[in-house]
Formats: sequence, structure tokens, C-alpha cells
Amino acid sequence: MEDKQFATQLMIIIGVLVGLTVLILILANVLISDTDYSEDVIVKGRIEDRIKPVARLALAGEVANAADTASSEGDDSNEPAASGLSGEQLYAQACSACHATGVLNAPKFGDKASWGPRMAKGADKLLASAINGIGAMPAKGGRVDFSDADIQLAVDYMLGSVQ
Ligand code: HEC
Repeated sequence: MEDKQFATQLMIIIGVLVGLTVLILILANVLISDTDYSEDVIVKGRIEDRIKPVARLALAGEVANAADTASSEGDDSNEPAASGLSGEQLYAQACSACHATGVLNAPKFGDKASWGPRMAKGADKLLASAINGIGAMPAKGGRVDFSDADIQLAVDYMLGSVQ
């Protein structure tokens, strides 16, 4: 009788321990989800930003980058050259901070309702606001190092999300 009782209690304890182990394994799996961020446009943009070359080669007569243009005196175009990034990359780097979530009431990416009334102004007006700033949005979203052509690409990319 004593032995039988002991055996039953032992089985119960082992059962509980096995149950706990399984529970911990499931929890660990849920907590450590292996999300792959390498395809995230924002992450990708930041990586590209960090690993981009620090200098560009310019052949005679060509403009290599913004710093070149700005420092060349007598040159009346202080416009940085287009960065060579795509609209999606530019958006990820310069615009998504506000437009992905709608911070400060920024019209949200892909949200037709918030873009509708703005689209009515016409693409040119929207581009002008993006370049010069509007309300809480600073000129070029704060990235004055981007050329107007870059901003145009970013705006096109954003407007493409609601068309
Ligand atoms: C600091 C936050 C912020 C960043 C960064 C930002 N925006 Fe905005 N943007 C706003 C806000 C806020 C508005 C709404 C302003 C208003 O209508 O008062 C807005 C409005 C706009 C509009 C609509 C303008 C209009 O005339 O209705 C466009 C187009 C736009 N942004 C493009 C961009 C682009 C392109 C970038 C990246 C280069 C960018 N924004 C980055 C905050 C931001």
C-alpha cells in the first residue's frame, strides 16, 4: 500500500514536471520569434545609408554629390544632385518616420481617406508643399540634403500607395 501510494505520487510529480517543460518550450518559441528584418524597407534603407560610399568620383564637368555643388562658388545652382535612391528608399529614409504612422497628423502612407482631399490640390501643389514644407512638416521632411528630384520620387512613391 505504502509503495503504491509513493509510486502514484511520483508519477504525478513527473507528470507535472513534463507538463512544465512543454509549457516552457512553447513559451520560449513564442517569445523568440525569428522575424526576418532584412526585407524591411526601413531597415534596408538604413543599412544602405550606412554602407553607401563616403565619396563619389566625378569626371570633369560632372557633379559628384551635394557637398561638391554647395562648395563650388559662383555656381548658382545649389541644388544637390539626385541621390540615386529609389522613391521607396527615399521614403523609408526621410518620410516614413511621420507618414508611416501619421505622426503630427501627417497623411498616412496608403490611407486613401487622408490623402483624398490633398490629392485634389494636384500633384504639383503636393510636391511644392513637400519641398517647401507645410504645417508641421519641415521642408523636404527635414532632409534638405535631398534634391527636388529625390523629393519628387518620394512623393510619387507615396501617392502611388493611394492610387
Ligand atoms: C516630421 C514629420 C514629417 C516628415 C519627416 C515628412 N512629413 Fe510630409 N507631412 C507631415 C505633416 C504633419 C503633414 C501635414 C501638414 C499639414 O497639412 O499641415 C505632411 C504633409 C505632406 C504632404 C501633403 C502636402 C499637402 O500639400 O497637402 C506631402 C506630399 C508630404 N507630406 C510629403 C512628404 C515627403 C515626400 C517626405 C519625405 C521626403 C515627408 N513628407 C516627410 C509630416 C512629415
